[in-house]
Amino acid sequence: MSGLELIALLQNQSPTIPGPGLPIFPAQASNFAREVDWLYYYLTAVTAFFSVLIFSTVFYFAVKYRRRSADDLPLPIHGSLVLEIFWSVVPLVIVMSFFVWGARIYYRMLVMPADATPITVVAKQWMWKVQHPGGQREINELHVPVGRKFRLKMTSEDVIHSFYVPAFRLKKDVLPGRETELWFQPTQVGEYRLFCAEYCGTKHAGMGGRVVVMEPADYEAWLSGAPQGETLEQAGARLYRQFNCNTCHDPGSSARGPELAGKFGKPVKLASGQTVTMDDAYLHESILQPNAKVVAGYEPVMPTYQGLVSEEQVLQLIAYVKSLTREERAQVQK
Ligand code: CUA
Repeated sequence: MSGLELIALLQNQSPTIPGPGLPIFPAQASNFAREVDWLYYYLTAVTAFFSVLIFSTVFYFAVKYRRRSADDLPLPIHGSLVLEIFWSVVPLVIVMSFFVWGARIYYRMLVMPADATPITVVAKQWMWKVQHPGGQREINELHVPVGRKFRLKMTSEDVIHSFYVPAFRLKKDVLPGRETELWFQPTQVGEYRLFCAEYCGTKHAGMGGRVVVMEPADYEAWLSGAPQGETLEQAGARLYRQFNCNTCHDPGSSARGPELAGKFGKPVKLASGQTVTMDDAYLHESILQPNAKVVAGYEPVMPTYQGLVSEEQVLQLIAYVKSLTREERAQVQK
């Protein structure tokens, strides 16, 4: 490996893309990168300043007030309220500045923008499976156009993984049985490394890939040429029939189960008297553990699909149930 390649590796980007200024930092390739870096510089500067201040005063006073003779006794000090307040308030203000700045960035990362395009990411030992809204699939690669917002909806087939793109300053755990999300807006065309940042078994270190940020026109070309499978909803519709969900859940069926069309995002009254919202987490649980939250007026007769459907298939089924809130509802009721 040449020196240049090593620097490129440290910068977490492809050797073909020249890096910016400091070789110790990865490229700043997302909307969050600059702000995260500034906060990091600030933390480093404050820490360095106080380290120097404290150690230099320790040495200075150690020398200045050193014991000069065997019978040299120091004068006792009985405290100073002004000093106590000073060294309590000043650090408080400083650490609160860390908190407020950090919380602002954290909050912006946490709140998903409404106009972000959703992309599904399923992690498994030891690969990243990506599906675009148009059905295009890829493994260990994520192609996105520069400037557009994306929202990754992530889950795991097996153990905990962590989706980590240093150039985007983003990292989020990916959990089995739960969906986690992150969003970003790529700001710079290039190739950036994708890592798994949670030790997940023998080939954890190899569980990586790349994020390819393209010009919008190149991205359109890539999309049309990418291997295209079913969309999440199409796959979900197929599974819905394959597992005979329709025999209980379609209107006009034997109605052993509640009808699903048009219910997503709405409150559901449970047999226990509780009311919950039909969201991703509720559907996820109800497919795998149907008896956990039985809808009022129905018997707990649905069999579990734990072990029969993969996490990916659960996501597909959920996507299909969501789509039932739209035009399909009318069709189903005809
Ligand atoms: Cu997946 Cu480490």
